[in-house]
This record gives sequence, C-alpha cells and structure tokens, in this order.
Amino acid sequence: MAGAPDRPIGLFDSGVGGLTVLRELRRQLPEESTIYLGDEARMPYGPREAGEVLQFTREAMRWFAGRDCKLVVIACNTATSVALETVRDESSVPVIGVVRPGASAALTATARRAIGVLATSLTVRSGAYLRALRDLDPLVDVAQQACPKLVPLVEAGKAGTPDAEAAVREYVEPLLTEGGVVRPVVDTLLLGCTHYPLLREQIEKVAGRDVRVVDSATTTALAVREVLASHRLARRGGAPRHEIFATGSVDRFREIARAIFHEDPPDVSATRLPA
Ligand code: DGL
Repeated sequence: MAGAPDRPIGLFDSGVGGLTVLRELRRQLPEESTIYLGDEARMPYGPREAGEVLQFTREAMRWFAGRDCKLVVIACNTATSVALETVRDESSVPVIGVVRPGASAALTATARRAIGVLATSLTVRSGAYLRALRDLDPLVDVAQQACPKLVPLVEAGKAGTPDAEAAVREYVEPLLTEGGVVRPVVDTLLLGCTHYPLLREQIEKVAGRDVRVVDSATTTALAVREVLASHRLARRGGAPRHEIFATGSVDRFREIARAIFHEDPPDVSATRLPA
C-alpha cells in the first residue's frame, strides 16, 4: 500500500460538473494524485429523491475505499446537500463537501448581503444552502432558484448554445427584477451546482456587470489543502497520477473533460459502482 500522503484524493459527482472542482484542485495542489468518479449512468441527481442520492453517494464512498483514497471530495452540491453528514460519519477518511465552501465564497463576495443561489431542485428543497449561509451570517438575504434544465444541457455538450442562454435567462432574470423594474435583487450569484461554472460566460452575460458570480471550486480546494496540512496528509514531490472514471458511456465525458483540461485525449475509463 502507498504511504498515506501518496494516496490519491477522490472526487465524486453525478457527471462532468465535479471536473470544475478537480480543475481548481489540480491548480492549487499540483503535487496531489486524484481519482475522479462521475456517475454518468444515473445523472442527473437533481430531480431525484434524497434517499436515492444518499444511496448513490454511499456506493461511491465504497468505490473510493476500494481505491485507497486518503480524502474524498463530494464535488456535487446535490449529494453534499443530502448525504455529506451521513457518509462523513460512516467514513474512515476525511470527507469534504462543496456547500459550505460555496457559502463562504458568496459571503466574501456580497456587499449588500443579498445572495442568489442557482442550484438543482433537490439542493434547493434540502435547504442546505440556506442553512450554510445563515450559519455564517444570520442576517443574509437569500433567494434560491432551481434550474432543472441546466445540468442536462451541460451534459449534452450544449453549453454556449442559444438553448443554454435561453435557459440561463429563464432562471437568472427573476433574480434581477423587482416589481417589473430591472434592478438586481441580489448582488451575488452563487453557482450552487458544480456543472454551472461550465455556463459561467452566459450566466455572467445575463447577470450583468453589477452582479458578481461565484462558485465553490476555489474555497473547496482551499478546504482540502487545510485538512491535508492539519492531518499531515499533503503529498511532497514526485509526478502525480490523475485518473477519471465514469459509469455508463464515457464518450461525451471524454469530450467535455478534454475541453476543460486541454488534455488530448484525457484518460477516462468506464466503471461500475458496487451496490
Ligand atoms: N454537479 C451536481 C451538483 O453540483 C449536479 C447534480 C445533478 O446531477 O443534477 O449538484
């Protein structure tokens, strides 16, 4: 078995969205090896019930345990919202979610303490962002917006198309008007789904210059760095190894991973999750 610091960091998402967290993690922690798992066969998680997503997350945790990961990042807001506390209790390695890091990024960005959260239906229903934001600032104003069309558009490789812009407009514009007048109700938009940074350009265009758009990738990578340091788990030197696995079809996955990492061809392998 590899020495503790040499073991990889696991990252989990329903699909390609968590690659936006992986990209930032690799930038901030270039010496760390990573194993990414996208549960492509069962995405999207957003329209599902909480119990189902908890079960999928537990299966992913068993899969990472079989690969001897030293820390696991739940790089999916939906899974973090409904499963983080439970899988953390059940895990022998540290588990980090993306909701609290996202909340702290949004609170750092907002000047008027007025934040709009774009997320999946299950993340919105779970209230996880409301709790995380109000834990950090009890007086913050939060407007949540479920965006069920966005994950399927990203997974279909349609980020950047007129269809994607129309969907972004449908979800973002209600947060920008008050009584029919265009006036941002919020000054910060939090991308509360790891797929949404892949639509950042369009979201920023619709939101306009007065609204800041933030995501959880930077603060999540920071949280990983702190946990690795405090547990003496940080890797020092040597070439890292990066592996990407997906359940279901890997073709679309490979294409999107290639666009994100500018790697040709990124190594994406098919896998199955232990039930
Ligand atoms: N990237 C996941 C998230 O952060 C997408 C969830 C989905 O599959 O609907 O919530």
